[in-house]
Amino acid sequence: MKIFIDSADLGEIREAVAMGAVDGCTTNPSLIAKTGKSQREIVAQICEILDGPISAEVLSTKYDEMVVEGRALAKWHKNIVVKIPLIQDGLKAVRTLTQEGIKTNVTLCFSPTQALLAAKAGATYISPFVGRLDDAATEGMDLIEKIVRIYENYGYQTEVLVASVRHPVHVVQAAEIGAGACTIPFKVIQQLAYHPLTDSGLAKFLEDAKKTPKNG
Ligand code: E4P
Repeated sequence: MKIFIDSADLGEIREAVAMGAVDGCTTNPSLIAKTGKSQREIVAQICEILDGPISAEVLSTKYDEMVVEGRALAKWHKNIVVKIPLIQDGLKAVRTLTQEGIKTNVTLCFSPTQALLAAKAGATYISPFVGRLDDAATEGMDLIEKIVRIYENYGYQTEVLVASVRHPVHVVQAAEIGAGACTIPFKVIQQLAYHPLTDSGLAKFLEDAKKTPKNG
């Protein structure tokens, strides 16, 4: 499973890349807003840090404007994936941009029918939001299972990019289901590496090592 970092924080992205964990990055307007910088400035710096797909989201909601904005975003760097909301005009924009060879990540997906239409429109990635479904008392991972099954049934090339990940169990479930990719906040990437028995085991080894003569 590919791991993307769901962040616009350059320090977090640098650290996760250094861990060897990261294949790509997703941003959204809320993550960009936290940086206090423009989307262009942040995305340009992410492109310097990471050689992989980097999602940058359009802010328009009308077909014509989304296409113009998507083309402009795609020109920023060869690794840009244009992130488009799953609305009717968004699907039209995905179709047009796909025909032009521009990669797209269809975001804010909450149902199998939305995912089916995104695949039909030629999306490169579909981003179902599991955490926000869990928040609404609906099992987010059920949606991932359905989408993966539907895509496999018909051989759609659209990659399932599990989004709105809140904890390590989401990541394990995504991998068990066989999702192509998972975009994960930095805090959760750190949690993936953590186990209390590793820390206590290491502390004991280091303590015991003090009792042995130094290596010659
Ligand atoms: C990624 O593409 C999404 O924008 C992100 O995962 C949303 O996560 P959230 O529900 O924690 O805001």
